[in-house]
Amino acid sequence: MSSPDLTDADRQAVIDVINTPILSMGKYTPAFEKSFCDLTGAKHAIAVNSGTAALHLCVRAAGIGAGDIVITTPFSFVASTNALLFENAIPVFVDIDPRTGNINPELVADAAKNIEKYLPRRGAESDVSRHRKSNVGRRWTPKAIVPVDVFGQPADMDAINAVAKEYGFTVIEDSCEALGATFKGRQAGRLGDFGVFAFYPNKQITTGEGGVIITDDDKAADMMRALRNQGRAPGDTWLQHTHLGYNYRIDEMSAALGVSQMSRLEELLSKREQVAAWYEARLSEIPGVEVPFVESFTTRMSWFVYVIRFDKKINRDEIAKRLQSRGVPVRPYFLPIHLQPYMVERFGWCEDDFPVTEDLGRRGLAIPFSGVMTEEQVDYVCTAIREEIKSTVG
Ligand SMILES: Cc1ncc(COP(=O)(O)O)c(C=O)c1O
Repeated sequence: MSSPDLTDADRQAVIDVINTPILSMGKYTPAFEKSFCDLTGAKHAIAVNSGTAALHLCVRAAGIGAGDIVITTPFSFVASTNALLFENAIPVFVDIDPRTGNINPELVADAAKNIEKYLPRRGAESDVSRHRKSNVGRRWTPKAIVPVDVFGQPADMDAINAVAKEYGFTVIEDSCEALGATFKGRQAGRLGDFGVFAFYPNKQITTGEGGVIITDDDKAADMMRALRNQGRAPGDTWLQHTHLGYNYRIDEMSAALGVSQMSRLEELLSKREQVAAWYEARLSEIPGVEVPFVESFTTRMSWFVYVIRFDKKINRDEIAKRLQSRGVPVRPYFLPIHLQPYMVERFGWCEDDFPVTEDLGRRGLAIPFSGVMTEEQVDYVCTAIREEIKSTVG
């Protein structure tokens, strides 16, 4: 499906670390963090060992706890909701824009105003019913929102921030898929109170595993640095722990690889743009195939995956099976979060709760995508898609 884009210089950066005795908490972690401050203009960057850990630290730093309501999207990778569940917050899903797959800001505004209407409504033992019992008479207000920059395209952050400001809630921008994207000329991840990036090998840059949080909030940054390091606050010794913390530290090999990859960010993004352009030119000519939609406010798309959608009359799963058997790896993308078994069990969501999300989930297919793909490989994938559609639809 994807392949990291690594050079000899990237590999050497890792080897250089292994040739020293300092494999954790050395000079590469702050250097990696600085590259994010330089890119985004954020005051603080905190590097951790995954995007999920980064999201979790934002949740903790924002003071989100048991029973707090957080608005988010069901059309995402599960981690954006899981980070809320780690603290027993209540995710309140709203549906998405059918063109981009990003959270629909009008529904966000409606949910902020009429939150009761959007609460998970089933599950006798759910957090909600417990929360209801202990909060009789309390006005329900969301504590935060987690918009996700889906597939490398920023959500409509101006509209979302306006609602957040009106209702006074924190914005945690999940930019795990959107490093380097810009919204009206501003860097993705920089548009809320906290921004989060992730570096699994299919991402725009990779550290193997890793994540970064950016924020301008001094107190939250101190808190997150403490929490990633077993709760050691500034001034604590190695065996003193002011907070309940975690080991979310990034190791030095990963950070060094990250520094090297960040120095090539422009090249990495441009190569992905080229592959996306090759795909668009070929796929937009195939009847029944929709290529990704890029909003006018997306001044730069940071291509993370390439997800096409099929017309309703095309059997997506049949095409996927046939492509796989021809050696073209593909995946349905995303499977909606609210229909994941543990979510259904805990909150009682069911089919038709979020029809746009479900529709995109049923019609979307991620096709092979990375910056190291050649035009011949793109041709091969597109020809296979064209032929399989023709042979199934006629
Ligand atoms: C939208 C989104 N959020 C969070 C994550 C979690 O990042 P990680 O896999 O590094 O924990 C990902 C990564 O795939 C993601 O796509």
